[in-house]
Amino acid sequence: IKEGGENLRSIICCIMGHVDSGKTKLLDCIRGTNVQEGEAGGITQQIGATYFPAKNIRERTRELKADAKLKVPGLLVIDTPGHESFTNLRSRGSSLCDLAILVVDIKHGLEPQTIESLNLLRMRNTEFIIALNKVDRLYGWKTCKNAPIVKAMKQQNKDVTNEFNIRLTDIITQFKEQGLNTEIYYKNKEMGETFSIVPTSAKSGEGVPDLLLWLVQWAQKTMVEKLTYVDEVQCTVLEVKVIEGHGTTIDVVLVNGELHEGDQIVVCGLQGPIVTTIRALLTPHPMKELRVKGTYLHHKEIKAAQGIKITAQGLEHAIAGTSLHVVGPDDDIEAMKESAMED
Ligand code: GTP
Ligand code: MG
Ligand code: NA
Repeated sequence: IKEGGENLRSIICCIMGHVDSGKTKLLDCIRGTNVQEGEAGGITQQIGATYFPAKNIRERTRELKADAKLKVPGLLVIDTPGHESFTNLRSRGSSLCDLAILVVDIKHGLEPQTIESLNLLRMRNTEFIIALNKVDRLYGWKTCKNAPIVKAMKQQNKDVTNEFNIRLTDIITQFKEQGLNTEIYYKNKEMGETFSIVPTSAKSGEGVPDLLLWLVQWAQKTMVEKLTYVDEVQCTVLEVKVIEGHGTTIDVVLVNGELHEGDQIVVCGLQGPIVTTIRALLTPHPMKELRVKGTYLHHKEIKAAQGIKITAQGLEHAIAGTSLHVVGPDDDIEAMKESAMED
């Protein structure tokens, strides 16, 4: 349900950073889930997607008493792996998003995949915010569960504040060495030129309201055109996987347009174009991870932006990272098959 007059779609935000910096845990903190603990070796190995309705973002940011007037229906967050072997998945995630969160472990500073992620984002001119995560690991940190960061910092003793400032200054220098100006977000007077840093704890939630509010406000302020809903379907295949009871399914991100049960679609396949019909459009419940097996909501139709699981026949050889096309009444299917294979 829209609050404003504009017809905006949900914001698509990608979360990136070095392995174990806390990307999945941050999403767990916002969702109230334990996805990270269920991962093999604690390592993310697939792209995920979670939908956060505006209502939940409003609740989570209430304490900041900002004018959190939300014009977008929600926020779709794409989780990516930080392990070095998944560069292709980071690239896929970053190519889809309107803006990004770059997570840095405050105790580690910039690491190889932080820099790789940073470069992927810069290459595409994607705006991002830096989550300086694991502040609760500063020695002597006093937990202020889910508090805005300024409020939490006020509770800390001198030693914690000192360690925080030393690490922050050091990390700002490391970014500078990468040619990037950064500043803690509430002191940043040159948004757009200087990238903002939000200290966070994925364990106890400090700074999480700030992170959410910044994302939504920044997107609404600077990306209205990009976020204006377009009817033409724009849809990318994130993952291809077999799900018990559903056969081979594809997880997609619908960036624009609408999908319907029964739509004829064309997808790029290993052995040529796949033409098939959408049997079911499934989503997890709001605030649940698409890549985690759970109960799905069935939809007759679904409007962008969303992360969706599609079941259909013949998806076995579909190729992740390619576009999904919907066949319209006037479309030449042969031409569409050709263009699908150009991906
Ligand atoms: P990959 O997806 O594998 O790249 O890792 P990730 O960035 O998603 O990190 P993940 O969420 O798997 O967290 C890695 C480890 O750090 C886990 O043991 C988390 O519990 C822990 N962790 C993450 N964030 C925090 C935090 O803010 N504070 C503390 N104390 N631990 C954290
Ligand atoms: Mg992860
Ligand atoms: Na991890």
